[in-house]
Amino acid sequence: MENSEKIICNCMDVSEKEIIDAIKNHGCDTVEKVGDKTGAGTGCGGCVEEIEILIEQNKK
Ligand code: FES
Repeated sequence: MENSEKIICNCMDVSEKEIIDAIKNHGCDTVEKVGDKTGAGTGCGGCVEEIEILIEQNKK
């Protein structure tokens, strides 16, 4: 899957690419861990569903 610069989390300005990096290279396998690493999902929470999908698609 190609890593995209598309912004997933508008609140914290976090791209899909950053989230995938956190999942693949930093062992972030939950929304909470992705949030700790990147900040994604820690604002309004509106992107959490998309983060869950990215975790499912990219976790080992
Ligand atoms: S868009 Fe990610 S927390 Fe609001």
